[in-house]
Parts: sequence; structure tokens; C-alpha cells
Amino acid sequence: MAKRQLKLGLVTMGVGGPGQTNRWLDPEIPVDASVNIDWYIDIVRQAEAAKFDLVFIVDSQFITADSPPHYLNRLEPLTLLSALAVATTHIGLVGTLTTSYNAPFNLARRLASLDLISKGRAGWNVVTSGDAGTAGNYGLDEHYDYATRYGRAFEYLEVVRGLWRSYEDDALVRDRATGVFLDKSKLHALHHKGEHFSVVGPLNIQRSPQGEPVIFQAGDSDQGRTLGATVADAIFTHARTIEQGQAFYADLKGRAAALGRDPDSLVILPGFTITVGDTDAEAQSIDRALRRIDQSFEQALAEFGRPFGWHDFRRYDLDALFPVEALEHARSSFYTQAKAITDRAIALGLTLRETVEYQRDVYASPFVGSAASIADAIERWFEERALDGINVHAGHPSQFRRFTQEVVPLLQARGLFRTDYEHTTLRGHLGLPIPTNRRSEVARFVCTGSRR
Ligand SMILES: Cc1cc2nc3c(=O)[nH]c(=O)nc-3n(C[C@H](O)[C@H](O)[C@H](O)COP(=O)(O)O)c2cc1C
Repeated sequence: MAKRQLKLGLVTMGVGGPGQTNRWLDPEIPVDASVNIDWYIDIVRQAEAAKFDLVFIVDSQFITADSPPHYLNRLEPLTLLSALAVATTHIGLVGTLTTSYNAPFNLARRLASLDLISKGRAGWNVVTSGDAGTAGNYGLDEHYDYATRYGRAFEYLEVVRGLWRSYEDDALVRDRATGVFLDKSKLHALHHKGEHFSVVGPLNIQRSPQGEPVIFQAGDSDQGRTLGATVADAIFTHARTIEQGQAFYADLKGRAAALGRDPDSLVILPGFTITVGDTDAEAQSIDRALRRIDQSFEQALAEFGRPFGWHDFRRYDLDALFPVEALEHARSSFYTQAKAITDRAIALGLTLRETVEYQRDVYASPFVGSAASIADAIERWFEERALDGINVHAGHPSQFRRFTQEVVPLLQARGLFRTDYEHTTLRGHLGLPIPTNRRSEVARFVCTGSRR
């Protein structure tokens, strides 16, 4: 059996995502990085040179003036990834796209196009949209409630995967000698009629060298975890400690096993900022300095309302007990996160100021140290099943360079990470099988009474 290997992803939020309001002041980051294709190409090529599995593009479609700089002005994921596809050769290309504000036919088509353009490197981070304000950009008064959001997501996945299996792999004959372009018996309509969607099909695009895009999922509620365990190939998450990572890992793998899946077919990828110094002490001081620069308390307070539907916490007394009534504003937003923040504040009797301070530390990383200490820590989290891989938040460019040039070689020397690509597809990198075109097999069974 092949040795289990660490996976590495790159997350890049150019001029600064959550907790990084002043990131753009770093002179190494172009002030327009989040809309600058040359900058994206450069950093993604760095990740590809270090043999990373994938680049992950986060997204949302609702902003306020207090949104992080990257969110205020950024490229749409599939457009960006299509450009990156032709500027790279191996790295996986994963984009966040919401099931709440896209039609499944259109999204299936666009993702399948990226998968062909990149020759089998596309991935889809399936989200239901945490930013409730997105509803107003799509003609709705309110965002869908959780039951509807996740109900739609489950059905959406069924539709999209069904559409991706419209053509059997040898359906397009394209034989000039016989004049046959298509074997019509191998093209299948979907005829889906469900609670949320009605889609006839077929989809007008063939499958890619990896069969179909890899499915990622990042919801943390019970519904989100069930969706991930049921349909995802890989899970994005956060963890502050190895114990938290292990608990999430065991929960998701356990859910997958209970559903009859091979737990190894579900890849768990928490995201971290990583700070490298010449010594552990120097790394700690670099990390402290960078985090002080990245966001002031006032900026953190302004951004604090995001999981609570962008509720404005500046209206409260900072030194009074945390205003628990604010949780109501999170109902159709990032409720799981907002509830965890509120529950902790209640349990510890925290003030608003203390709660905001604690949240600022959410971005504190367990991976701060010399290259050797970081490699040790990553090895421990990996071997002790807190993760299958890491989404490395690129952050300050000098730090990402240090990770790729100092830490990755150590991981390679320990046999934990590849020294070269062995595959050309994202499924290949992640060790995932090509999904069988089962719907076509079923259709064939119905037509002929026998399976091939
Ligand atoms: C690592 C990670 C990355 C995420 N990326 C996005 C994203 O790019 N866009 C988005 O709308 N939601 C994103 N989410 C949010 C979730 O997918 C989900 O919508 C949100 O957490 C609320 O649902 P939940 O209560 O089930 O977690 C992310 C969550 C995590 C943990």
C-alpha cells in the first residue's frame, strides 16, 4: 500500500482577508494584488514549483465598507482559475461557488469547462453562502434558512453530478472515416425533478481526464458536516490546537465510514498561517509584529460582526458583558461560528472587548517557529491524525517564500511530501479515484438489462 502523504494547498487573499485589514501595507504586495492576474500567476507558480496539490480561491458576493480589503475588490473565482489554468501545468485549481445563488446547469457547465481547460485540475468548494446580505443581490428579501440552504445543496450536488455524467466516456466517436460524431446511445438526459430544482439535461460538455471536478466542502454545522461526509472528496476547515484538529478529523471520517464510505477517500485540510524564523524565538517575534501590523483592535471590532450578519458591535459598551442578543442576527448567516463565539463568551463571562480580543487570536497559528520546528509540528499533526494536509495561507510574500524554500524541503526529506508530481490531475494528486459514470451504467442496465 502506498505511504500516506501530506497534501498542501495555497490560500491567497492578496491585499488581505479577515484579520488582515492592513496587510496591503506590506511593500512586497502590489496594492491591486487581489485583481492583478500577474500577481496571482506569480504566487501560484511558486506553489507549483514547490509541488503543491492545489490553490484555493475563497469567495463571497456581499460586501460592506468594513469588509477586508481583499473582499472589497477581487476577481471572480472561475474567471481567475481559467486564467491560472493556462499559466500552470500541474497544480489543482479550486474555487468557491455557492449553491444558493447559481443555477446548477450553468455552474455544472462552467466547472466542467475549467476541468477541460486545465486538463483535469478543477475543484469546487461547495458553500451555501454565509454572508446573508447576498440575498439582496439576487432579488430575495432574505437569505435561505439553514434547512433550505443545505436541502438545496444536497439536491444541487445530485443534479450537478448527474449532469457531469451526461456523456459516457466513449460517447463522442468523432470518426472521420465512418462519419460518426456521436454514439447517440451514450448520451443521457437527466430528467431531474426535485424539491428545489427541475433540470432536463443533458449537459453539453464531455468529462475531463479526472472524470469530473473534485468536490470540497467547508460547512461546520451538523448539516454542513453531514453534507461533507456524504458528498465531498475533501474538507476545508480551521483548527487552533491539535486536539481540535483530531476531534474534527475523527468526526468527519467517522461520519463518512457510517455512510459506507472509505474514510481515506475523504481528505481533511485545515488552513493555517505559517510563520518561519531562524529560531523559534525569532519566529514568535516576527509573528507578533506581523499580527500587530495586520489589524488594529478598532478594525477587528468593525469586522467582528461578519458572522453575525454584519451586525455592528460598535454600538455596545466594550466593557459590558457580551451582548448575547446579537446572536439573533446570525440566524441565516455564519450561525455555527457566531454561536460558538457567543457560547464561549457566556461560559467565561466575557465582555465584548475580551471576546473581540479572543477572536483576533483565532488567526494565531500553531505553526510558528524555525523551519525544523514547523516541520516537526506538521509531522506530528499529520501522524496523529489531526489532518491529511494543510491549506497554507500565503499571507506576507516573504513568509510564503520561506515556507516553500525552507519547510517544504524538510517535509520532502522526511518522505512526508512529494519531491515531484506523479500525476497531472487534482484527483491524482489527492489519491482519489476517478468517479465511475454510474448513471450511464444504470441507464444502460435499464435499456439492455445487463451491465457491461
Ligand atoms: C475553511 C473554510 C473556508 C470557507 N470558505 C468560504 C467561502 O469562501 N465562501 C463562503 O461563502 N463561505 C465559506 N465558508 C463558510 C461555510 O462554507 C459555510 O457557509 C458557513 O460556515 C456557514 O455554514 P455552517 O454553519 O454550516 O458552517 C468557509 C468555511 C471554512 C471553515
